[in-house]
Amino acid sequence: MLANKKVLLGVTGSISAYKAAYFIRELVKNNCEVKVVMTKAASEFIAPLTLATLSKNPVYQDYVASKSSGTWNNHIDLALWADVAVIAPCTANTLSKITSGACDNLLTAVILSLRCPLFIAPAMDVDMYKHPATVHNLQVIKSRGVRIIEPDSGELASGLSGEGRLREPLEMVEILSQHFEESLLLKGKTFLVTAGPTYEAIDPVRFLGNRSSGKTGVALADELASRGADVHLIQGPGSAAAIQSRVKTMRVQSAREMLKACERVYKECDGAVFSAAVSDYRPDKAHDSKIKKEGNTPTVTLVENPDIAAELGKIKKSGVIHVGFALETDNVEENARKKLINKNFDIIVLNSPGKNTGFEHDTNQINVITKNKKQSFKLKTKTLLAKDIVDEIQLHFT
Ligand code: C5P
Repeated sequence: MLANKKVLLGVTGSISAYKAAYFIRELVKNNCEVKVVMTKAASEFIAPLTLATLSKNPVYQDYVASKSSGTWNNHIDLALWADVAVIAPCTANTLSKITSGACDNLLTAVILSLRCPLFIAPAMDVDMYKHPATVHNLQVIKSRGVRIIEPDSGELASGLSGEGRLREPLEMVEILSQHFEESLLLKGKTFLVTAGPTYEAIDPVRFLGNRSSGKTGVALADELASRGADVHLIQGPGSAAAIQSRVKTMRVQSAREMLKACERVYKECDGAVFSAAVSDYRPDKAHDSKIKKEGNTPTVTLVENPDIAAELGKIKKSGVIHVGFALETDNVEENARKKLINKNFDIIVLNSPGKNTGFEHDTNQINVITKNKKQSFKLKTKTLLAKDIVDEIQLHFT
């Protein structure tokens, strides 16, 4: 559930700040990306270096990152980066600042700038936790939608006993996991995704192929699955691999194998995303043994491959959504729109070759086109673009 989720962790000055180290470790083990913002008081309890090492990211403490170079930590960028924010441990002091809207340090400024859900895990001595001011603050922020990770009861660092112990890291991971489970808007939907190139055999060692890495298709499969969908990923050769457990990957080589694999699962699907760079042609025959270099130049005659998207487009039922891709160099939008109609797509993702875009790159620049809408996205990683594309897909189911 947590794979690829971006967790912004606020750490404040409680003795239980040491538990943040375990919490970060568990989040990272679950494939979360973690960025830590800590208060000055927190750094008295646990070294920023520990949290930076465990989170594999720099720890943010002040607005000013480096006085000598004049660089600063942008609280807005940090806030908008996060899928979820958690303050663990959250002291009575930081709780009161959040309640009043104060932003006298980087953490509280980030909190005021959040657009994602915020969880706070209070940790303090029992009398501070039971104090009317704290009780009031918790009520106020709860009414604003902040989720409270209730503290445990037991022995406290002060020697007193009662409520106020920070919840155990594993329990906090479970709470976050449940949160993402509940926000799965594509739960119960099944998708087919084609990805990667196809290899069309000439003989046992040679083939006709292309430079597609399959990264976009794999990112789309993972993104659909991270929103609750079950995904059949039919993937051509290449090293990209999906990480979500809801993705079932079937490996194929040629366009005809890809079509067969798609046909096997298509009927149970609510949507299909055709991101594979399927070879349009194949050699008319694949030789059983390696073609020898015997002086005369061999001729390879090509025949047309099946168009998987077009074939499945012919049997598409209403309510099922088809997404296609177009890589165009001339009359780009006009050609993409033609493809949208001819292949019975509901959405077409248009990309044009350029610097840092397309095959063999981790980034791309796309336009997402439907019959009555066009959205242009700036150059981004393929993982982030997958989110934009799946946002559009999701609209068809809400
Ligand atoms: O016609 P063109 O190859 O540009 O169409 C691209 C779209 O059609 C992509 O979505 C691609 O995955 C799909 N396609 C396919 N089978 C083919 C060729 C393209 O599914 N043989």
